[in-house]
Amino acid sequence: MSDVEITVADDGAAAARLVAERLAEQARAGGSIVLAGGSTPRHAYEIAAELESDWSKVELWWLDERCVPPDDQQSNYGMAKAALLVRLEGPPAAVHRMQGELGRDDGVAEYRHELTGVGEFDLVLLGLGSDGHVASLFPNFPTLDVTGRDVVGSPAGLEPFVDRISMTLPRLCNTQELLFLVAGADKADAVGRALDGAPSHATPGSLARSAEGTTRAILDRAAAAKL
Ligand code: 6PG
Repeated sequence: MSDVEITVADDGAAAARLVAERLAEQARAGGSIVLAGGSTPRHAYEIAAELESDWSKVELWWLDERCVPPDDQQSNYGMAKAALLVRLEGPPAAVHRMQGELGRDDGVAEYRHELTGVGEFDLVLLGLGSDGHVASLFPNFPTLDVTGRDVVGSPAGLEPFVDRISMTLPRLCNTQELLFLVAGADKADAVGRALDGAPSHATPGSLARSAEGTTRAILDRAAAAKL
């Protein structure tokens, strides 16, 4: 049986709405939210901005970033800016973006510095790759074993093939709530392995669990097909 609380929505739009409601709730409560990249959360960010336009009580962080400028189409920050940040009336108390434009080594060093002394997050939103990766921690990469550091650099294990900056597993698991958002039939195998399989370096998602809080997943029916 899965150790993750799973909610299955009818389709991707319904899954996005559920995640948006959780994000808006956290925005109202304040605290810290770590945003996921990739394309799946875009709609959730748009709805979250509609549900709550005052995010002045929260600080935003990023799970991972591609080493591109913030206005590049591949930028995870750029996606969140367009879908969420520009729509807010009350901007977040702080926007801690990863500086992909600095390149891998300097970008990692800068974000490690940014995270110095930061404790448990309130909410970490996590996507899942079709290969089972989370953040920019790819299957069987040595980055999965890094402890004692908050941020690592990595080559990409999947498209887009640009260098990455990523939180480590211990850092992203240090949260009250870890929330997966996964949609689409191409993710069904990975979802089965990540949420209902034995912990394995072959499926980084299976290693991502809140250290002392709750781990939840909001899936659409297609992504949940193999559970
Ligand atoms: C990234 C990510 C990555 C992403 C998954 C899912 O920068 O690529 O943060 O972990 O969440 O690859 O991406 P999609 O939502 O685009 O499928």
